[in-house]
Amino acid sequence: MAHQVRAVVARGKGAPVSLETIIVPDPGPGEALVRIEACGVCHTDLHYREGGINDEFPFLLGHEAAGVVESVGEGVTDVAPGDFVILNWRAVCGSCRACLRGRPWYCFNTHNAKQRMTLLDGTELAPALGIGAFAEKTLVAAGQCTKVDRAASPAAAGLLGCGVMAGIGAAINTGNVGRGDTVAVIGCGGVGAAAVVGASLAGAAKVIAVDIDDKKLQTAAELGATHTVNSRGTDAVEAIRELTGGFGADVVIEAVGRPETYQQAFYARDLAGTVVLVGVPTPEMKLELPLLDVFGHGGSLKSSWYGDCLPSRDFPMLIDLYLQGRLPLDAFVTETIQLEDVEKAFERMHQGDVLRSVVVL
Ligand code: APR
Ligand code: ZN
Ligand code: ZN
Repeated sequence: MAHQVRAVVARGKGAPVSLETIIVPDPGPGEALVRIEACGVCHTDLHYREGGINDEFPFLLGHEAAGVVESVGEGVTDVAPGDFVILNWRAVCGSCRACLRGRPWYCFNTHNAKQRMTLLDGTELAPALGIGAFAEKTLVAAGQCTKVDRAASPAAAGLLGCGVMAGIGAAINTGNVGRGDTVAVIGCGGVGAAAVVGASLAGAAKVIAVDIDDKKLQTAAELGATHTVNSRGTDAVEAIRELTGGFGADVVIEAVGRPETYQQAFYARDLAGTVVLVGVPTPEMKLELPLLDVFGHGGSLKSSWYGDCLPSRDFPMLIDLYLQGRLPLDAFVTETIQLEDVEKAFERMHQGDVLRSVVVL
């Protein structure tokens, strides 16, 4: 039996999204049908709608979601109907070289549902990041579902499915921030603010938040930044050095995705420090650095994909911390909205005054 549900669809490059009725098939082998309870609006959704990713229109948007498993297909044992789950967009295979070598976050064979959801006329939909959760129900691979404690608010839980996990993971997984470290986070939008939270959780002694917007710095301070730097009028590198006794930070997290902020991150770290790039650059962006400066700094330069997370390990752990009051996920939910408001949420995203708009169903 197929299911007819309401969903947010991007029909063509740059066109406003529309609320449509779509058809979601029952789960086949290895698949799960999930009734969505909340889905955050992420920059990547906007990139899909603007045609920045590929041109597989129509897209079914939304990928930062939590919901309840309604039914599962043949062979599914990890999740069952009634489970409250967070969806992820990197369901790992467990058997490729990366998985076998203990780095599943670099898995070569991540997978999604095999069957396609469609519009009423049968046109196949491309689900954003293999999820498509701006919908009352969606179809995913069972491995994209991680069961977490039902007590968590769906809006908060869903955020771990993308941006907030990316930021927290950049600090705790990729940056490997440890007790007593000094950490600087350049760019404190949703992802950077989550990196601030991750660094505090990991026991950093100093967390320096850098942004060009005082509102973002204010939020970062509320979330645990010990120092804030508005880099519009100040040299960010100098400021970070001054705040770290002249050394630079042990870990600098770049959460903007631009050459100039990456360059700041590069020079603002301690000689043995780590730079983590979690901001996503565009294909045309280039970085030029004197090779001698690369040689002259030790440490490491890393990028962080999806916070180098392992959903089955990280989601339940972070939800437990949230339920204990140690992880302020609710602070990331700037507003809750309806499915029909996604286009408006994209506008607000452009204005830069939200950490996250979250669709609640
Ligand atoms: N210096 C410092 N901060 C800057 C600069 C700059 N030159 N330019 C922009 N910023 C700040 C903005 O003021 C904003 O607070 O960077 C932040 C970017 O935040 P958002 O637009 O909310 O984006 P976010 O969702 O946090 O994602 C950041 O990470 O995962 C990627 O694709 C994502 O590339 C994006 C980045
Ligand atoms: Zn996202
Ligand atoms: Zn793998």
